[in-house]
Amino acid sequence: MKLFLDSAITDEIKHSIEYWNLDGLTTNPKHIKNSGKPFLRVVEEIADLFAGTDKPVSVEVDPHLTDWEQIVEQGTKLSEMSPNFVVKVGASENGFKAIRELTQLGIRTNATLIFSVSQAWHAARAGAYFISPFIGWKETYGDSPTTFIHEVAEMLERHEYDSQIIAAAIRNSCQIADVALAGAHCVTAGLAVYQESMQNPYTVHGEKVFQDAWDATPSDE
Ligand code: E4P
Repeated sequence: MKLFLDSAITDEIKHSIEYWNLDGLTTNPKHIKNSGKPFLRVVEEIADLFAGTDKPVSVEVDPHLTDWEQIVEQGTKLSEMSPNFVVKVGASENGFKAIRELTQLGIRTNATLIFSVSQAWHAARAGAYFISPFIGWKETYGDSPTTFIHEVAEMLERHEYDSQIIAAAIRNSCQIADVALAGAHCVTAGLAVYQESMQNPYTVHGEKVFQDAWDATPSDE
């Protein structure tokens, strides 16, 4: 399963490239806002961080755009800024039409805000390169992330669609494990979620046990 960072903060992106060999990046309008910079400036900075790599960077079109032709126009401009950019489009009738048109233009897309297998199917039929089911949001309202990812993966496999699942809106280590086992191709989460997922109190306890043993071992000199 590929590891994508969900962020538009350049320091976080640099850290995750250096320490984790990040596989790609996802952003959304909230992350852009949190960067404190104007949209085009921050996406240009992000493009520079991934220049010369083949790592995908999902950049979302203006969510006010509901007309598919406008989505295609902005998506095309974004794709011209960087070969890494994947155009992120919200799931809707116009969004799926825009995904189909962008795909025909050779532009990769990420169908975002996916909450049902039927939405994932429409995205796959339209040619979406990535499909982003929002796991944390679904779990908040009582749905099982494991079942959802498993069903989307099964649908894609059974009908031989090429779209890859990015399990998105991940809140904790348990969800990372669940989506990995359920068949997500990629996962995207914030820096803190990944850092927590590398830790365990038993590991800290075990290190202390071993440090004490190390200290109590007779010296070689
Ligand atoms: C995914 O691509 C989205 O950017 C993201 O996961 C959105 O959810 P969140 O902001 O609630 O985490």
